[in-house]
Amino acid sequence: MPPLINRRRALLFPLLAVLAVILYVRHQATAQYSFAVPSRLSFAHVPLEHETNLPVSVPVSEPSDSEEARHTAEQLLFPGVAQSLSSTSAPEPTVISSSLPPPPPKPTTLPPSVKYRPLSSGRWHQLASPPGSLPALHTLWGSHGHYCLPAFREDLQLLSDSEREELGRERLLRCTSWEWVPSLPGGAKMREWNVRNFIARLVNSERGMLLVGDSLTGQMADVLYSMLLLPIPGSEDNSYPAILPSAHYTTGTHVVIDHMNVTLHPFHPLYAELRAQFPHILEERFQEPIVQYMRHDLLLSYAELEPVFEQVGFTHAPFEYGPFASQFPWRVRLPNNPSRWDGEQDSVLVLNTGAHWSPARWGVPQAAYTEGYRAVVRHLLPELLGTPKLHLVYRGTASPHTNCYEHTAPVFPGLPVDPAHEYDWGWAHFPVLDQVWAEQLDEAAPEGKGSAGGRVDILDVREMSAQRPEDHVLGFDGKGDCLHWYGPTVPGTWAKMVWHIL
Ligand SMILES: *[C@@H]1O[C@H](CO)[C@@H](O)[C@H](O)[C@H]1NC(C)=O
Repeated sequence: MPPLINRRRALLFPLLAVLAVILYVRHQATAQYSFAVPSRLSFAHVPLEHETNLPVSVPVSEPSDSEEARHTAEQLLFPGVAQSLSSTSAPEPTVISSSLPPPPPKPTTLPPSVKYRPLSSGRWHQLASPPGSLPALHTLWGSHGHYCLPAFREDLQLLSDSEREELGRERLLRCTSWEWVPSLPGGAKMREWNVRNFIARLVNSERGMLLVGDSLTGQMADVLYSMLLLPIPGSEDNSYPAILPSAHYTTGTHVVIDHMNVTLHPFHPLYAELRAQFPHILEERFQEPIVQYMRHDLLLSYAELEPVFEQVGFTHAPFEYGPFASQFPWRVRLPNNPSRWDGEQDSVLVLNTGAHWSPARWGVPQAAYTEGYRAVVRHLLPELLGTPKLHLVYRGTASPHTNCYEHTAPVFPGLPVDPAHEYDWGWAHFPVLDQVWAEQLDEAAPEGKGSAGGRVDILDVREMSAQRPEDHVLGFDGKGDCLHWYGPTVPGTWAKMVWHIL
């Protein structure tokens, strides 16, 4: 009975979190950690202007049908790999002993897997005033990229295009009438989204925000771009956006955006305002990107992967090395100027890889490619944690849903993937991959700081995404893609969560 187990888990969650810290602390034998929640971040409450003269949207990406539907529409390349699931399901929570050890002394820092747990646990709430129209939706999430597909129904194929379009629009408004309310200490709210403050924070760093990962990270970048089209509180001119996008597409059979920049609009008043606020920052910085999205499905290039895999004896069928995996050389965009200008803040790297790791792609069972995955993480970490002026945020892999078309509303608690149905694409195994990052980051940065001094955080998005089975892209047959997200609320909330922890 998975829902019951899940509910029990949800109830046990706070206890387990505490237990994890205790176990961790004992393991480290340093007794320096405690149970205190992270100190409250500053919540700047600047009211958003709800204007109807919205900034003009510049489309940077079209949803690609072939790609969006790939996890359900693609033929399995190697259907014979479905293996026994015995060794592959997520580890069960540790049994809680009835006599807990006394709490360790006063806390200063927490390991990455613990620090932002309250942000990742919570529940979707229906908005008091849900958007009743597309313009209303645009005042919440910006005006870019909110496309519509209808939900599944038996007679879907019989409907006219305009009927489907209307159903898609209705569904979009339904999906966007929810808001993630995390269980923050003291009932605190998530930091309010503020375009001006976001841009100011990032321009005051060498490289701004770097979003690196696969198409799901691309969805996050797409919504973030839309959120940057929202009016700037207190700005003298909100008739056009303060930022400009530019995108580069891959060539070949599978065309995707592999690099997108969001840069300050040189003629927008915000540009001059920030120039005046940061007179000591070189002019060139203002022309460089505020946000970059770089697509790299596996994080290491094929040439780099082979020796890394060889070290751990991981061999695989070369299926992943097909046209799907975009490999933008993202590490050349990490900060590399060792000196800081006065008050310079760290650049932020938001990283993920997960959805491209599956038995279908590698031609091996989950246990085998997990070793390859772990080797990739171990290979990357010394470089990332040793990069000066870098704040690393590892974003966990979101939870897809088995037969998502059966759902019309969020669920609580989140629905786990059914491993019997979703073996080939490795969906039920995503939590194990997240666990690899949690272990490696907790070990390498037990106090949430890398060797070069930058912050190291984990943003777990599993529960918040698992509660949204109704919010997937689907397909024109109504039953398609249950991995990618439809509408801005899920990937856009990841962007808000990152803003919260900055
Ligand atoms: C993004 O900005 C970087 C740094 O200025 C530049 O090298 C790159 O060509 C830009 N890419 C796109 C797609 O505009």
